[in-house]
Amino acid sequence: MMKTLNLTLQNSNKNLYLNIAQAIRNSIENGHVIPNEKLPSARSLAIQLSVNRHTIMVAYNELVAQGWVQSQQRLGYRVATTLPIFTSTKTDVKKETLKHQHRWNISKINNNNIPLATSRFPFNFAGGNPDISLFPFNEFKGFMNDALNRPDLEELNYGDNAGFAPFIEQVSTYLRRVRSINNKKIIVVNGTQEALYILSQVLIKPGDKVAVESLGYQPAWNAFKNAGAQLIPVKQTSQGIDTNDFEQLIQKHKIHLLYLTPLHQYPTTSTLSMQKRKAIYLLAQQHNIAIIEDDYDHEFHYNSQPLAPMVANDPSGLVIYLSSFSKIMFPGIRLGIIAVHSSLSTHLINYRTMINHKVNILQQDAVARWMKDGGFERHLRKATRLYQKRRQCMVTILNEFISEGIKITFSIPAGGMALWINVDRNAEKIAKLAKQEGIFLLAENAFHLDIKQDQDKFIRLGFAGLNEEKITQGLFLLKVLLKKHCNE
Ligand SMILES: Cc1ncc(COP(=O)(O)O)c(C=O)c1O
Repeated sequence: MMKTLNLTLQNSNKNLYLNIAQAIRNSIENGHVIPNEKLPSARSLAIQLSVNRHTIMVAYNELVAQGWVQSQQRLGYRVATTLPIFTSTKTDVKKETLKHQHRWNISKINNNNIPLATSRFPFNFAGGNPDISLFPFNEFKGFMNDALNRPDLEELNYGDNAGFAPFIEQVSTYLRRVRSINNKKIIVVNGTQEALYILSQVLIKPGDKVAVESLGYQPAWNAFKNAGAQLIPVKQTSQGIDTNDFEQLIQKHKIHLLYLTPLHQYPTTSTLSMQKRKAIYLLAQQHNIAIIEDDYDHEFHYNSQPLAPMVANDPSGLVIYLSSFSKIMFPGIRLGIIAVHSSLSTHLINYRTMINHKVNILQQDAVARWMKDGGFERHLRKATRLYQKRRQCMVTILNEFISEGIKITFSIPAGGMALWINVDRNAEKIAKLAKQEGIFLLAENAFHLDIKQDQDKFIRLGFAGLNEEKITQGLFLLKVLLKKHCNE
């Protein structure tokens, strides 16, 4: 219920009630309250304006008579659903205001598209979507309650900006035990994107060269470019980046930074081999190149234990490790961490203070409690088992397509949440036509740094976010398009 409405009383000779009625009418005309919205009670308005309640009621009744306000017995007053027509002078004033709109001095234009809400497609094969309905909301509610029942008043205030200590402790233990990461400083961030932004601002000067996978993650590139970076694409193989190409690029350009998705390359799903990792450590060390390792979906690995992150065996402390809770929980949680050598951490924390004082403490508290209880790992095991089944379901159906003569090829990725499928031709057309059938998927053109490299051959199909029934129905519809366009 609305308690307060900011009213400006004119200093006129009118009766006080007429003066108040005029002020309420002005508020309605200026859109401060909108049709059908509840107005403050006569009692609260009387307190606000220090006048008698009766005066307010007379003012309201005047507005009811004029058609601006509706009164409902025992329910108080509302703005009328249909307002009396505005005078022509008012409309002119509105036009005038538009004419004199301020011309902003925009110094950084960002035309990058806001991510599409792909969930509106009945068959959403967007590559990185977790199945949010799997998340144990009820269980988590208990830990949220605990965080509220026993709040850490010290931490809820301004102060240390690295993150909530009990959460950092849980994450450190988990990273040490499950991902072999030791002796790194942990900084909590609002998701990987914030980490990428902070790192770009701290590490990149205009004109600096940043090497990236030639097919890769645009949101990271946008953060680098925004800081003035020149992006250098490194060729890819079926086992991650081509290290020979990387070496040649280093001879040509002074490269400062390398951004990689080593475990499940985004978008091609390949895993960077051990041999290539060693070559990259060596080159980075020789040429003083920092490496950002984006390990966005580490747990979802199916056939064997995933390779330890590069940061775990990093001989020279050049790897900056990023991990996100977007896939493990859901993207809206906006929670992630940077694990980094202590020589860099203070710079990052200090820079972050300009963006934000803290990351939501209550949320970190609840997640820390959930991790300590073991719920986090239980959920991960459940999701991983299910995603593995969904991967198998998709693979089985696609293999049936092949036996029916549809010309597609793919390899089964060791992990991740999507398949990278060679449809031989017309990938972009297939993605476009699929949308008309209610299917969302992306073709390789969406991932190239240099669009001239587009071969129009690959599509990416996410399997984690859909149940087996949806995968089956969606692929059945897609089959018709594949039959027609990749065999054309
Ligand atoms: C390559 C890559 N990095 C990171 C993320 C997660 O980013 P964030 O933590 O900002 O949600 C994703 C999610 O799609 C991704 O694909």
